[in-house]
Formats: sequence, C-alpha cells, structure tokens
Amino acid sequence: MKTFTQHLLFLLVFLLSLDASAQTYARNGMVVSSNKMASKVGVEILKKGGNAIDASVATAFALAVTHPTAGNIGGGGFIVFMDSSGMTTTIDFREKAPLKATADMFLDDGNLPKGINLYGRESTVNHIGLKSVGVPGTVAGLYMAHQKYGKLPWPILVQPAIELAENGFELPWSLSRTAKFFSENSNIQFLKDYFRKDNGELTEFREIWKQPELASTLTEIRDHGHDGFYKGKVAEEIAQFMKENGGIITKEDLEKYRAIERAPIKGTYEDYEIFSMPPPSSGGVVLVELMNLMELADLDSIEFNSTEYVHLLAEVMRRAYADRAEHLGDPDFNLDTPIDRLISKEFAKKRFDNIDMNIASVSDSTRFGQMYDGSSTTHFSVIDKDGNAVSLTYTLEHGYGSGMGSSKLGFIFNNEMGDFNPIPDLTSNTGLIGTDPNLIEPEKRMLSSMTPTIVAKDGKPYLIIGTPGGRTIINTVFQTILNVLAYDMRVDKAIDAMKIHHQWLPDRILYERHLLSPDTRKALEAMNHKLVARNSLGELMGIQIDLINNVLIGASDSNSSEGAAIGY
Ligand code: GLY
Repeated sequence: MKTFTQHLLFLLVFLLSLDASAQTYARNGMVVSSNKMASKVGVEILKKGGNAIDASVATAFALAVTHPTAGNIGGGGFIVFMDSSGMTTTIDFREKAPLKATADMFLDDGNLPKGINLYGRESTVNHIGLKSVGVPGTVAGLYMAHQKYGKLPWPILVQPAIELAENGFELPWSLSRTAKFFSENSNIQFLKDYFRKDNGELTEFREIWKQPELASTLTEIRDHGHDGFYKGKVAEEIAQFMKENGGIITKEDLEKYRAIERAPIKGTYEDYEIFSMPPPSSGGVVLVELMNLMELADLDSIEFNSTEYVHLLAEVMRRAYADRAEHLGDPDFNLDTPIDRLISKEFAKKRFDNIDMNIASVSDSTRFGQMYDGSSTTHFSVIDKDGNAVSLTYTLEHGYGSGMGSSKLGFIFNNEMGDFNPIPDLTSNTGLIGTDPNLIEPEKRMLSSMTPTIVAKDGKPYLIIGTPGGRTIINTVFQTILNVLAYDMRVDKAIDAMKIHHQWLPDRILYERHLLSPDTRKALEAMNHKLVARNSLGELMGIQIDLINNVLIGASDSNSSEGAAIGY
C-alpha cells in the first residue's frame, strides 16, 4: 500500500510533468531547449502573441544567462526557419576570423603547440586564450531574424533575460559542480570569479546566482539592438579588453560584422523534405548526403542496432565526412564548392556502390574521394500556433568557450577559431584536416558541424531537431531523423535510441557505452572496425508534429540535466 505522502508525491510529479518533462504534448506552441527557465521564457513570448522567431530570440538571450556553458552572446550559430506558408530560409551568424588573423597564426616553426585548456587537459593552442576568439555573431543573428521575421517589439524579447541576470536564479546542480571546479582549478580569474556572489563567496547549489554585469550588457542590447553590441560602450570594452590581454579583435572587426541570410540546403528522403544549414556549416550538406545514402539501403531487412546496421552507418558516415573534409568551408571564400553534386542522388549512388557489407573500409588521409573534438553547443526547437518553426543551434565551441571575458561585460568569449583547419596542408590519420576551404583567412567564417534542421511533410514542419556535440552533431541529427522517418520511432524514442559516430578520421566508431551489446561489438571488431566507448552522444532537442491530429510532441534528450520541452 502506498502511503498518503507517496500518493501526494506521485501527484506532484505528475502535475510537474504536465508542465515540463522529457516528453511533452501540446497544441498551440512549444519550446524545447537545454534549460527549463529558457524554454519557459520562450513559451511566455508565444502566449503573448509572439511568433516562433520572437520566442527563439527570447529563448536564446535567456539561455545566455541560464545555460552559460553554451548559451551565449559571445559566440555564434545558425537559424533554420520555416514559416506557415512553407517559405524556408536560414540565418548565418557564425563567428568570423578577425582582420588580423592569418593561416598560420597558431603555428610555431610549422608546428601546432599544445597548452592546457580550461579543464586542465592538454589541447592544441588554437582552442586556448584570446587568439582563439572569433568575432561573435549571436546578437547580429538574433537581431536580423527579428527585424526580418519577428512580430513583437525587440525590447520585450530581451527583457526576460535581463531580469534573470539581475534577479538571479537558483544555481542548478550541473552549474554548481562547474562553479566549484573552476574556482578551485582555473587559472583564468574571470572563470574563478564567474559564479561568485557579491560577498566574494562561491554560489552553492540552489543558492541565488546573479549576473549584474551581464544584465547591463543585455540592457545595452535591449535599448540599441545590433549596435548595442557592435558599437558604443560594449564594443569599446571588448576592443579594450582584447588589446590589454593579447587578443586581436578590434572595434573595426565588431563594426564590420554582419549576419547573412542564406538559402537552406534542401534534400529529400522518400516523401519527406529536409531543410538544413548550408556552409559555413557542413551540417546540411553532410546530412543530406547521409540521408541519400540511407535511402539506397534496404532498411526493412536491417534490424535496428544490429551489426549490419552499425556497419552500414559507419560506412556511410566515413564517406560523407571525407567529402566534408575535402570540400567544405565558408562559401564566401570558396565559390566553387560542388554542393549540388554532393547532395545529389547520383553522387550518393556512386558512394553507396563501393560499400562492402562484410568488411570495414580503411580511411586514408591521402585519399579523400575514397570514399573529436570537445564541444559545447546548444540547440533549441520552437513552433508557434500558426505553424511557424525555428531550429536554432548556437555555440561557444567548447564548454564556456575560451573561458575569458571582461568582468565589466559579464559574458564569455567563444574559442571558435579552433574550428578552422590549423595547419595548412596537413591532413592526418589522427583527425587533423589541412585542406584549403577551411584555412584561416581574415573575415572568413570557420567551418561548423551544427545542423539545425526542419523536416517537412506536405509543405509543413514535421520534425524540428538539432543538438550540440562538435563533429558528432551531424551524425546524431542524422540518426535521429532516420529513426523517425525510417524506423517509425516517436521523437523521444528516436532521441534516446543508441547513436554512433564515425568521422572518417580518426578511423574509429564512437558508440554509446550502455546501448551496444558486447556481441555486436565483437562482430564489428571482426569486420575490422575499431570501437571506442562514450558515455553519451548528443543532447538533442526536438519537436515532432502529429499532422493528422494537430498535436505537438516535444522531447529533450535524457542526456540533458536541465533540458525541458514546454508547450501550451
Ligand atoms: N562549435 C561546434 C561547431 O560549430 O561545429
């Protein structure tokens, strides 16, 4: 017999689950993000009559306060937007290399030196310190999205983030652990102090954490829009901070930064349409190539999670990532990228035909045509009552980016320069890529793997999906989409199902430790695959739309400690 208290607890958990849970149903609108306070901010904007773009802008600013691991105003990202008429577009607010950047800026006598990163681990220097910071794009991107497609006044969208920063919020478990780690281990003063209270003590689990300097920066952005970040007080302090601390970003870099609206990458899988991010993200091109390859497989005869299944996935991933390494980079600097060919069904057929279902191919850094990085990025998915949909992924590159920032401004700078190819001409079996399209040049955008995606059916959004995870992003988005479209899984099941990752080089399969059986692993090893375990891959945030019953199904990945799908 359950006691009265147990019943009460059960009721409480049930009532809470109606508001925010890993899997949520709603009819009028929904936001699924890595942080429940931010999802709530977005839904409140929808309830006030804002559209999906308005809710996304508000959610992105709120995440910059409540999910500082990756939510940001000091980084960059991408929006894929489909409006209720089926018009689809994207906004590129990827960071850019500063004007003073050069192809060999991280090299010492031709070598890429190593240093110690924020987490006390050895890392190459292109991810460390102020030189690793790309010119931030987030504020420009959100502002452009709002100017072109938003509905509510801009200040209303920034205000909730200001209030969260000013009034503070209870520090969740995940952030309290980070706070302790940085205060004890970091040699960057900004990070050591980042989670401190006014009295100098560290904010503990469930204590209120306030960010007054960030609130002031956000107030400038609320009052002056794009210019509140790229001109005036904030820009001056960024430039001054860079100058005093060995960075190379100047006022001119900030003034010149613009977000860019670009046509999406479009593909199909059976009767579904896939809309995703074009270069400078590699996400859309590689995703469509992967889906084209899988369309050629007889999936009815391949059991999900079987040896055959994992082998096939690894082989298609190997080929698509080799193409990524060979061809992709900022499209404004690579005018002849063969995108149409890479995403064509004919090209997929050629790639598919040389897969041997009995043995692993061998990745070879000198033969592209043959066929890890840490990350902290965050994704959210939004839909409004009219059916406008947003898929937004943005990032600081690593968790807490460069870990550096001005104490007067209260936000963290990215370390996105680490996404450029660091050593010209050196492509190695360890995973270094040295091809031309993604070498550092002034004002170039570094190649990304972020893959915010909208899958449509009959011209309407059917699945809105994305994830963090560095180069693993494309593969985890790909498998989640495949799980829904080919294996008929509901979005929450598709997100939590086993994922693998192969990125051509290094030549190995990463797999989720608890989700692949020892027998399957042995069988794959017998086919010459090398397997490496990971605790998890991806932190997907998705919305699936039941187009027949007009119901929204939202799911945040169980890998996410603070994620929430909230609808109304
Ligand atoms: N920073 C991760 C990416 O852009 O792919």
